[in-house]
Amino acid sequence: MPSLAAARAANAAFSPAYFPIAVFVGGTSGIGRACVEAFARYTKGNAHIVIVGRNKSAADEIIASFPTPTKPEAKHEFVSSDVFLMRNVQTTTTLLRERLPRINFLVLSPGLFNVRGRDETAEGIDKRLGLHYYARWKFVYDLLPLVRKAKDAGEDAKIMSILGAGYGGPIDLNNLGLKKSYSLLKAGLTSPTYNDLMFEHHVRENADLAFVHANPGAVATPIFELKHWALRPVSALRNSLSTAPKDCAEYMLYGLFQTEKGFSRRNAKGDDIGNSNHYGSDEEREIVWEHTKEEVDRALAAKVEST
Ligand SMILES: *[C@@H]1O[C@H](CO)[C@@H](O)[C@H](O)[C@H]1NC(C)=O
Repeated sequence: MPSLAAARAANAAFSPAYFPIAVFVGGTSGIGRACVEAFARYTKGNAHIVIVGRNKSAADEIIASFPTPTKPEAKHEFVSSDVFLMRNVQTTTTLLRERLPRINFLVLSPGLFNVRGRDETAEGIDKRLGLHYYARWKFVYDLLPLVRKAKDAGEDAKIMSILGAGYGGPIDLNNLGLKKSYSLLKAGLTSPTYNDLMFEHHVRENADLAFVHANPGAVATPIFELKHWALRPVSALRNSLSTAPKDCAEYMLYGLFQTEKGFSRRNAKGDDIGNSNHYGSDEEREIVWEHTKEEVDRALAAKVEST
C-alpha cells in the first residue's frame, strides 16, 4: 500500500516521451477536479486537457490555475455537456472524435448530489444510474477508438472510472437497470458491478489497453458524503476521517499511472484489489452488456424536447 508520499513520488515520475491528451468527464468538481488539477501539475501544463462538464465558471477557474505550458501544442479546454442525456454524450463524443487525434487518458467521474429515489431524465434513464454507469458506458464505447489510436502509436492508452470498485453487489437479472425495483441502496450496489463488467467486456478484445475501476473511499466532497449514505454509517466525524480531494487524487492517479494494461480494480489507496468483492459471471456480463446497448439506443431514440 503506497503512502501518500510514495504515491506522490510515483506520480511525479510521470514524464511521457509523447505529448499527452487527456479527457476528464465530470472534471469540474470533487475528485474529478482534483484529478484534473494534479494531472496538469504533473505534466506542467504541457498536455492537451479537455474538461467535460456543465459548470463553465468552475472549468475556467480550474484551467486558469494550471501551470503555464512551455510547449506550443499545449491546450486546455472546456467542453460543455450535460451528460444526464445520452444524446448530449453522443454530441460530445462526436465532437471529440472530430477534434482529437487520440486519447491517452480518459477519466470518468460524473456524480450526483441528492438522495432522491428513481428520478428519470426525459430519455427514461434514472439520473443516478445514468451518471454512474450509462453515460460512462457510452463515453467509453464511443471514445475507445481514440484510445486505441494512442496504443497503436506506442503511447499510454488508459481509461479510468472513479466510482466504487469493491463496493458493488450481485446482479439481479430480473431487475436490470433497477427498472422494477429501485432504492438508493440498490443503486449504490448496482453501478460499481456494472462498471466492472463494462471494463471486463472491453478488455477481452483490448487486452493491451488499461482499464481501471477505482474506489475513492470516503472523500470530503458533498457528493460522496451522500453517495454512500445508504451504504455506510454516517457520522459527524466523517469529515475529519475522510481524505481531502487532493490527496485522493494522488491515489487515483497512482492507480491510473501504475496500471500498464488489462483491467485493474483499485481501492482508495491506489492498491490493486484483484477480484475481491467481485460480482458477475461471464454470462451475466454479456446480459448486462446487451441490456445497456438496448437502453442507450432506446434513450437516443426517445423523443425529447431539444435541450
Ligand atoms: C460552478 O462553479 C463555481 C466555481 O467553482 C461555483 O461557485 C458554483 O457554485 C458552481 N455552480 C454549480 C451550479 O454547481
